[in-house]
Amino acid sequence: MSERTPAAVTAEHNPLRDPDDKRLPRIAGPCSMVMFGVTGDLARKKLMPAIYDLANRGLLPTGFSLVGFARREWADQDFAKVVHESVREHARTPFREEVWRTLAEGFRFVPGSFDDADAFTLLARTVRALDEERGTGGNHAFYLSVPPAWFAPVCDQLQASGLADQQPGSWRRVVIEKPFGHDLASAQELNAIVEGVFPPDSIFRIDHYLGKETVQNLLALRFANQMFEPVWNSHYVDHVQITMAEDIGIGGRAGYYDEVGAARDVIQNHLLQLLALTAMEPPIAFTADAVRAEKEKVLASVRLPEDLDAATARGRYTAGWQGSEPVPGYVEEEGVDASAHTETYAAMKLWVHTRRWAGVPFYLRTGKRLGKRVTEIAVVLKRAPHLPFTDTATEELGQNAVVIRVQPDEGVTMRFGSKVPGTQMEVRDVTMDFGYGASFTESSPEAYERLILDVLLGEPPLFPRHEEVELSWRILDPIIDHWAASDTPPQDYPAGTWGPPCADELMRHDGREWRLP
Ligand code: BG6
Repeated sequence: MSERTPAAVTAEHNPLRDPDDKRLPRIAGPCSMVMFGVTGDLARKKLMPAIYDLANRGLLPTGFSLVGFARREWADQDFAKVVHESVREHARTPFREEVWRTLAEGFRFVPGSFDDADAFTLLARTVRALDEERGTGGNHAFYLSVPPAWFAPVCDQLQASGLADQQPGSWRRVVIEKPFGHDLASAQELNAIVEGVFPPDSIFRIDHYLGKETVQNLLALRFANQMFEPVWNSHYVDHVQITMAEDIGIGGRAGYYDEVGAARDVIQNHLLQLLALTAMEPPIAFTADAVRAEKEKVLASVRLPEDLDAATARGRYTAGWQGSEPVPGYVEEEGVDASAHTETYAAMKLWVHTRRWAGVPFYLRTGKRLGKRVTEIAVVLKRAPHLPFTDTATEELGQNAVVIRVQPDEGVTMRFGSKVPGTQMEVRDVTMDFGYGASFTESSPEAYERLILDVLLGEPPLFPRHEEVELSWRILDPIIDHWAASDTPPQDYPAGTWGPPCADELMRHDGREWRLP
């Protein structure tokens, strides 16, 4: 159930507004967020700025409080300084002194390690004091932005200190960041630990791709319109390509990335979620249970091709150029184990064994240090069964496609054939674009803003359930095991290109090619 109480909350701001108006912004009820791992990159670049942006948009309740927890001897003011720096550097909305001052009044810091019982006793005291001083109402979200090895100790301590206890009339929620394990067995273990402490509907697993505007628009595009669904099946669709290309390398994240690789890092979560949303049946409602149930059916119906050598590809970037900058190869990055076969590029072909998608391959690819940063879902249609233009030049006529541009140029492109102007009949591909920037004046919120607000509101449709996480590992585990058993290392590709030759081979084998986004 949502904590959305427009009558109570918005009436306080403007009693003349209709509280049932669905266009009213959703405002969280009284609450606090406790953040573990506030010294990490994610907290600094995304989470703390998102909280400020929410406050700046007026979407946090009066009295909202943020409690930082880390192994630092900081006072509340030191923590406030750290948040201030991160907001000044990374927030998306303009800095407003009065918003900042009001927000900062609710900052508290608790020093301690993630398994220190005394520190959790202090945390429990701090949180209780906030209820009294700032009216947070016993509603507290615990954001675990910590390495997975710490999930269990933090959950244990939350339980032992009574912080996880659900009190009548208030809520306690936990937010966990990926990676949710490194294979099926570890994911199951992790889920058992977290679900042993928090009830399933109080657990929010973050997949930040689901917070992206365009990813949600996929549902609007498919299910709010009449023109796409009729062709969204194997009668008309030839294949689907889902691309998540990054131009960055691994930065300072070797410690994390070197043990993970591209497939675990983003295919297990972001790309398989995009596949599920693209392929799912219409949910009966936009409720958490209905949407997740449909996504789970898709993930449960994914099948791998028999020949995994032909149907998958992996690569690793070598030194090259990113724009006009020379960049090092993966094995030259600081902290990387050159002998490990970590892939920075992964591609695979998957089948979705349902009536709707029988015989339609889904190609997924992702990589670091590719030609440019772009994420898109391209639904490529079959060719027209008959072309009546016998004397017409149609060599430049490709296949129709609907391309959902997830980022950075958010929108949708339709590709179709059109007559070239002139006295001759010549047909060539053209594109028709919808761009968010051109059609709306509102800017899209950052994914983390949307997701943090949903946590505070208690609205779970955009958070994967544990079944989805486990089904995704079920898909990926055999591929990763296959790669691990192989003697061949990932194939090289120079930074700034579009991946290793074996990825092109994967497509050529099927008589297709990757789109050049
Ligand atoms: C994260 C991955 O989940 O997503 C990173 O761990 C990746 O490796 C990042 O760079 C990409 O996110 P975005 O929103 O910039 O596409």
